[in-house]
Amino acid sequence: MSSANAQPVTAKLTQSAIFLTVTIKPGAENDATVRDLCADLSSLLRGVGFRSPEGRLSCIMGFGSDAWDRLFGQPRPAELHPFREIRGVHHAVSTPGDLLFHIRAMRMDLCFEMAGALMDRIGDIVTVVDEVQGFKYFDERDLLGFVDGTENPVDQAAVDAAVIGDEDPAFVGGSYVITQKYLHDLRKWNAMPVEYQEGVIGRKKLSDIEFADAAKPAYAHNVLTNIEENGKQLQIVRANMPFGEFGKGEFGTYFIGYARSPRRIEQMLDNMFVGLPPGNYDRLLDVSTPVTGNLFFVPSADFLDDVAEGAAT
Ligand code: HEM
Repeated sequence: MSSANAQPVTAKLTQSAIFLTVTIKPGAENDATVRDLCADLSSLLRGVGFRSPEGRLSCIMGFGSDAWDRLFGQPRPAELHPFREIRGVHHAVSTPGDLLFHIRAMRMDLCFEMAGALMDRIGDIVTVVDEVQGFKYFDERDLLGFVDGTENPVDQAAVDAAVIGDEDPAFVGGSYVITQKYLHDLRKWNAMPVEYQEGVIGRKKLSDIEFADAAKPAYAHNVLTNIEENGKQLQIVRANMPFGEFGKGEFGTYFIGYARSPRRIEQMLDNMFVGLPPGNYDRLLDVSTPVTGNLFFVPSADFLDDVAEGAAT
């Protein structure tokens, strides 16, 4: 297989993250400024991150479908398209977004500094349409109180799940990422009996032990998101983060899933929102409402390094 360095889509979980989604203001000169940033991203990361290597700063840059066409034209990643909304029992919205910056580190100051360095470069020519500062909560739990991330593939399995290989030769080392910012109705959730909550997730709440398959309700989250092709499980790499603001009364989970094909994440979403069979939907959605929905392509790090300064490719 030909090789290309992937961006750190399979990086280990960190304590802090900033998720920045921006649109690029119209204008060829603005597109050129973004292309300049692509080639300089690794240098900015070194500048901010080297001061504290144990802080494990990383930053992934992703591109929405329309932005890709404007910035890079052809060739285009085989499966890149705008996020498709889903109207099932619940509604998965599709919202604007040209670029995603997924900034992670063990400490928020590193994430914040990196976001600042990025905005110094492109702040005037983009509109921030969504910004979430995420934090790790006790024992890797989400704000619903369940441990989140346990069944994530690791090491080579994570690479196999998230990184494009020879199926798209021009984009080896790339990845697709779907993001959704979910707001939780915590009062409603916390009023539900723990036994019911455990059925919704398909795991024990305190111990995080998975239910035996026969004990899982058909609507359990880990039944509906467990998908197969030719008898093989199709996995994704998740890096969800809790967030919250007391003044706004907003508490949620930022869902972010990487995969070598968006199709598998879309299938999970169909199962959750429409149900499998239709109507057997994910009960998490009774207390979780997505207010954003985006699909981005994450080219390899080599692709970013090679973007010609200024000029359209
Ligand atoms: C409100 C948003 C969400 C919350 C709070 C949430 C929470 C959880 C929790 C607690 C688990 C069990 C532990 C684990 O394996 O990580 C889990 C598993 C999982 N979730 Fe989610 N999740 C959310 C949205 C999604 C979405 C949108 C997808 C995909 C489109 C997804 C895909 C998965 C997958 C693939 C697993 C592993 C299932 C398995 O193989 O056992 N989740 N999630």
